[in-house]
Amino acid sequence: MKTIARFSPALLFLTIIYMSCTEAPSKKTDLTKAVTKQDFGQADGKPVYLYTLVNKKGDQVKISTYGAVVTAWISADKTGAKNNVVLGFDSLAGYLAKPPYFGAIVGRYGNRIANGKFKIGDSSYTLATNNGKNHLHGGLKGFDKQVWDATEVDSVPALTLNYISRDGEEGYPGNLKVTVVYTLSDDNELGIEYSAETDKPTVVNLTNHSYFNLTGDVKNNILQHTLRVDADAYTPVDSTLIPTGVLQPVKGTPFDFTIPTAIGARIAQVPGGYDHNFVLNNKDGSLKLVAELADSISGRKLEVYTTQPGLQFYTGNFLNGSIKTSDGKPINKNAALCLETQHFPDSPNQPAFPSTLLKPGEKYHSITKYKLSVQ
Ligand code: GLA
Repeated sequence: MKTIARFSPALLFLTIIYMSCTEAPSKKTDLTKAVTKQDFGQADGKPVYLYTLVNKKGDQVKISTYGAVVTAWISADKTGAKNNVVLGFDSLAGYLAKPPYFGAIVGRYGNRIANGKFKIGDSSYTLATNNGKNHLHGGLKGFDKQVWDATEVDSVPALTLNYISRDGEEGYPGNLKVTVVYTLSDDNELGIEYSAETDKPTVVNLTNHSYFNLTGDVKNNILQHTLRVDADAYTPVDSTLIPTGVLQPVKGTPFDFTIPTAIGARIAQVPGGYDHNFVLNNKDGSLKLVAELADSISGRKLEVYTTQPGLQFYTGNFLNGSIKTSDGKPINKNAALCLETQHFPDSPNQPAFPSTLLKPGEKYHSITKYKLSVQ
């Protein structure tokens, strides 16, 4: 039987006062539900939603349909205190101001393509150049600045995001249907599964651009985090960060992270800081542990598993304090770092690199998992 609540005018008045003094109902997250959907504003005249995935441990991952961005990953440190380990904002305005790819899905081609040009067979393509003379992260309006469609899967918890990139968008050939599935497991593993199909030969390189600071506070930089990367080589770059084509052994260089090493230990020997693609030893495309990041302040550890051949390790070198967190703290150089699983930069122009070509009838598929734990 339905019960109809009857409010007296006084009670109604008190209720309105109470609601205006507390968080708007749409901002509240119901932590008893595996997936919660909230309004997050509008972009391109379309509604944008913020989804919160909650696992049995109470970890939360927040995902915006704008840019398929991971806006927050809230998890406990060694004392049980919960805080956010990725850079992100609590309102859409922060993202509309174009932060450098915070938490976003980057595509159609993550990383750089030299001079914004490539060929497939006899056809030449010219892309938007948005990084000096080069093309970066999909161009002027890449996947990070698009509104995605979302479908929740609350049994897991998981969220499926879809985006159709039209033929000619940012200069790329072919209509590309992209699906990204985020899953948060009960052992704090954030899975990201990428799939894509095209109707014309094109190039695809999808990644997630989360910036991690395992202390959960940008006032600490990431130079004291230790990193291990299972890579015996990296791809040296020219002054515009385009690979020279050489696969350089890391042994004896500041790029040797084959044993856990503090990020700050040798960063001064790398002009500008780390912003390099590592050639993972994982060569067969299976899902393998490729990197481990650890922080002694919080006791947190992050493991990275991927099917991809490369990992862009970026130490937030271009962050300069001009962007502030939602609670007003400046995000300075080295405030966070990225571990972007991907194919190598400029692969379309480097025949010796693993191919990023996708043809009609083929399926692009890759998996990356970030697993948080406390030590
Ligand atoms: C990537 C690039 C960097 C930089 C950041 C965004 O990690 O490799 O050079 O462009 O994205 O600022």
